Amino acid sequence: MRSLLSMSDLSGEELGSLLKRAGRLKREIKSGKEIKSLRGKVVGLLFEKPSTRTRTSFEVATLRLGGHSLYLSANELQLSRGEPVKDTARILGDYLDAIVARVYSQDVVNQLAEFSGVPTINALSDIEHPTQVVADLFTILEVKKRLKGLKIAYIGDGDNVCNSLLLGAATMGMNISVGCPENYRPSEKILKQAIELSVSTGSDVKVLTDPADAASGADVLYTDVWVSMGEEGEKERRLRAFRGYQINAKILEAAKKDVSVMHCLPAHRGLEISEDVIEGPRSIVWRQGENKLYGAAAVLEWLVGTDARS
Ligand code: CP
Ligand code: NVA
Repeated sequence: MRSLLSMSDLSGEELGSLLKRAGRLKREIKSGKEIKSLRGKVVGLLFEKPSTRTRTSFEVATLRLGGHSLYLSANELQLSRGEPVKDTARILGDYLDAIVARVYSQDVVNQLAEFSGVPTINALSDIEHPTQVVADLFTILEVKKRLKGLKIAYIGDGDNVCNSLLLGAATMGMNISVGCPENYRPSEKILKQAIELSVSTGSDVKVLTDPADAASGADVLYTDVWVSMGEEGEKERRLRAFRGYQINAKILEAAKKDVSVMHCLPAHRGLEISEDVIEGPRSIVWRQGENKLYGAAAVLEWLVGTDARS
C-alpha cells in the first residue's frame, strides 16, 4: 500500500507516469468520457485548514472517476476535543478507501497514513504540498513540452510549496534556484534531499538571497504567499522581510523572454506578485489552477483506482 506524504515518495519514473496519467485523464474528463476507476471507492477529506482548490479538485476528481467523497472538517470531529490522531486514523481506515488530509503538522498526516492502513494523501502540511507540485509539473510539461534541463526560480518564502517544488524539480532533472531572505530558507533537511536527488538527475539546486540572481535565465518563475495559513501572527514581520521579493515586471527582465509565471494561489496582488504580471501574458496561473483537478485525479487513480493503469 502506497501513500503520497512527500514528493520524495515518488521516483522519477513514477512521477513521470503520474504526469502522463494526468494528461490522459484531462483529455478523458474534458471529453465527457465515463471513467469508473474509483467505482465503489469512498475517499475522506480531512481538513484542518481552509481550501478552495485542493478540496474542490479532490472532491470533483473522485466524482469524475466514479467514486464518492466525504468532507470531514477537523473541527467537527472528536479530534477537536482531543481524540488522538492514531485512534481517529484507525477508525477512518475501517470506513474509507483513502484519506486526503490538510493538516498543520506533517506528523499528523504521517500518523494518519501509519494507523489508517489506507492510502493517505498529503493535501498540504507545514512542510510539504506534494499534490500542488504534481499539478505544477504537469502544467510546466504542457506549456514547455519538457521538464529536464529547464530552470525554475522560486521567489519568496521557503515554505511547504517551495519544499515540495525543490524535491519535484530535482526528481525530474530541472534546475531550481530559490530566492529568499536568509531567515526564510526552505527546510535544510529537504534541501539536502533535493541536492542528493539533483546529483543523480544532473540538475542544479541553489538557494540565494538575491531574487534577481535566482530569477536569472529562468524558464519558470514561481511564487507563493508570504504568510502561510497558521502564520498570521507573524504577518507584519514577514511583510517587512519579503519586501523586494515580489514577482513583477522588473524581476521578469532577469528571466528568459518566454518565461512562464506561476503561483499556487490564493494570490495577494501587490505583495508577492504584481497585478500586471498575474494578469499578463506570461502568467500560466489559471491553467495551473485548473490542472489541480487532473493532478488530483491522477494521484487518486494511482493510489486507489480499481483498474490502475500505469
Ligand atoms: N493552491 C492551493 O492549495 O489552494 P487551496 O488552499 O485553495 O487548496
Ligand atoms: N504556503 C501556503 C500555501 C497555500 C496553498 C500555505 O500554507 O498557506
